[in-house]
Amino acid sequence: MSPTAIPKSINPPLILEDHPVDERLSIKAIVVGAGITGINAGILLPAKVPELKLTIYERHSDIGGVWHAHRYPGVKCDVPSHVYQSTFSPSTTWTENYSKGSEIKNYWKGLADKYDAWKFVQLNSEVLGAEWSKQKAKWVVNIKQTNTHSGESNTFQDEAEFLVLSTGRFSSPRLPDILGLDDFPGRVMHTGAWDPEFDPTGKRLALIGNGASGLQILPELQKVAAHVDHYTRNPTWVAGALGGEKLSREIPIAEELKARWAADSKEYHQYRKDLEAQAWTRFAIVEKGGAKNQSAREEFEKLMALRLGDRQDLLPLVLPEFAPNCRRLTPGPGYLEALTKLNVSYIRTPIESATPIGIKTVDGEERAVDAIICATGADVTNSPGFPIINGEGVNLQEAWHVGGDPGFPDTYLGMAAADFPNLLFLMGPNSGSGFAGTVPHTVETQITYIAKVLRKVSSQRIRTIVPSKSAILDFRAYCESFFPQTVLSEGCSSWYNNHIKGGRIVAVWPGSGAHVNYIRQEVRWEDYEYTYHNSQANRFGYFGNGWTKRDIAAKESVTAADDIDFTYYLKDEAHREGVDLRGYHEAWWEA
Ligand SMILES: Cc1cc2nc3c(=O)[nH]c(=O)nc-3n(C[C@H](O)[C@H](O)[C@H](O)COP(=O)(O)OP(=O)(O)OC[C@H]3O[C@@H](n4cnc5c(N)ncnc54)[C@H](O)[C@@H]3O)c2cc1C
Ligand SMILES: NC(=O)c1ccc[n+]([C@@H]2O[C@H](COP(=O)([O-])OP(=O)(O)OC[C@H]3O[C@@H](n4cnc5c(N)ncnc54)[C@H](OP(=O)(O)O)[C@@H]3O)[C@@H](O)[C@H]2O)c1
Repeated sequence: MSPTAIPKSINPPLILEDHPVDERLSIKAIVVGAGITGINAGILLPAKVPELKLTIYERHSDIGGVWHAHRYPGVKCDVPSHVYQSTFSPSTTWTENYSKGSEIKNYWKGLADKYDAWKFVQLNSEVLGAEWSKQKAKWVVNIKQTNTHSGESNTFQDEAEFLVLSTGRFSSPRLPDILGLDDFPGRVMHTGAWDPEFDPTGKRLALIGNGASGLQILPELQKVAAHVDHYTRNPTWVAGALGGEKLSREIPIAEELKARWAADSKEYHQYRKDLEAQAWTRFAIVEKGGAKNQSAREEFEKLMALRLGDRQDLLPLVLPEFAPNCRRLTPGPGYLEALTKLNVSYIRTPIESATPIGIKTVDGEERAVDAIICATGADVTNSPGFPIINGEGVNLQEAWHVGGDPGFPDTYLGMAAADFPNLLFLMGPNSGSGFAGTVPHTVETQITYIAKVLRKVSSQRIRTIVPSKSAILDFRAYCESFFPQTVLSEGCSSWYNNHIKGGRIVAVWPGSGAHVNYIRQEVRWEDYEYTYHNSQANRFGYFGNGWTKRDIAAKESVTAADDIDFTYYLKDEAHREGVDLRGYHEAWWEA
């Protein structure tokens, strides 16, 4: 050995990869579902993850998710339109304070146009299953694509380094398990698969369910139907509003106001801030035994009594024993008023069966109807809607289902699962803020988190990333200790607990909207386990040959300054107002 050579202590030595460090690996992600979440993924992921290849498969014939599929009379958002919108692309043109489903759908479709997200979307494409290939380190995904003209389907496979589920909580309508329902000769329709051709005018209807959908549809059916038998298993709280208490539900937003907002962005910005703040400050209402929960109970009791008018006999039937917010609150404008009408029967007696002419309750009474409307919600187990099989043959769909092992969605922060590498969830189990914050905001921050994961994987040439089992157990322990402090753990049936009274909370985040926002801000990389593409499994393989693309460009250019910005950190504002040091030297896209 020459006396000047640097000694090698590692044998065999690392074979340097021949590329600059900042040459990212191009990775592909398959996103399943193009509701609000999938549309946002189609906008934000390509912006935040260089070199990302993206395909979004949507089983429906259009994007929009629940806002495409739920077309029942009266479908609207129940938080203000100016809150239920993208934070980065707000609209001053909403026609109503609480917009109709069709306007919401069109708004999100407009965003897909504006940000050119359509190019990633394949419609009429249902993901049937996915299996992890250890050898390829890819998800092999089976898709059924249907030609809407011919009705013919073909099944094919696609592969990607990442599988991201944004399949929604309420996208798979669930008909009630009622004996004889299949044999009922009249129309049986779910609110989540509404046929707009169906005309309820003059018909005798049974309406089952008093979740938000049941509360929204009843006033509309009551106006036109001959009679509505409204079957409910449990009572529910009817709240005043979920933010925006002072907004009119009847009067459209004035043209003059819209024009002013369009002309004066400051005024509109302040309006949005004030309105949206109301969505963040509600959290104390979930505290078990808390003052805000108690005052909500008193307020709602008074409001419900008032809305029932002369029909105070109904009050004991509609008032729940469980605390407000044990199940998601619903403003239900017009619902209680509709219950008081002569053509509505409010029926708490349990259903025994459907019969050839209608519905029979356990007391032996049979009521004849022309159609049965099921506002009975969705499959809210929060386990995947199709088999997802890891390299060991474990099917996540079965494992998370009641009766599986562990029999509930056992996640890392609602976004990943042990033993399932490169699998991520958006608005998955225990991930969304249920009672403070907004859905669009939480969707955006989840996608941002996932973008950081994908960026790290592609820039550091990671082959697999998976949360550690110990991190998952710690999160499970946190959930199990947090929820009993809240009214969610009381004995109500709700989509929070998969309709199991007092059961495990599988849907929402264990904390406030601000809490999850804070936590998702930083990725805890130490909670993940990694493998690398480097042939010698060296984590620093991605360091490459010691060069950056800028260095190579500088070497190859005639004059060193040719379009190569090494000094991006020198900011014009440094010698004027100064730079904001909190974020200084932290912009990943500049380095
Ligand atoms: C009627 C109704 C009203 C609501 N109102 C409000 C409100 O006012 N405020 C509020 O905050 N929230 C509301 N929500 C909650 C709503 O679910 C969320 O706000 C949000 O729209 C969810 O968007 P998403 O994209 O996550 O899910 P979804 O909209 O459910 O979209 C999921 C998509 O995944 C697709 N998909 C599922 N499985 C597959 C598969 N195997 N292959 C391919 N595609 C698949 C589905 O077809 C669907 O298009 C409402 C929900 C409903 C049902
Ligand atoms: N913007 C809005 O106003 C709006 C509208 C619709 C939906 N949403 C969102 O979507 C969520 C889900 O709402 P949802 O109404 O579709 O579903 P949901 O809240 O889960 O309500 C389903 C209803 O169906 C009843 N039900 C289910 N199976 C039944 C059976 N076999 N027999 C009798 N009753 C049965 C349930 O009764 P139990 O309670 O007894 O289990 C419950 O009342 C809402 O909480 C909200 O987040 C919002």
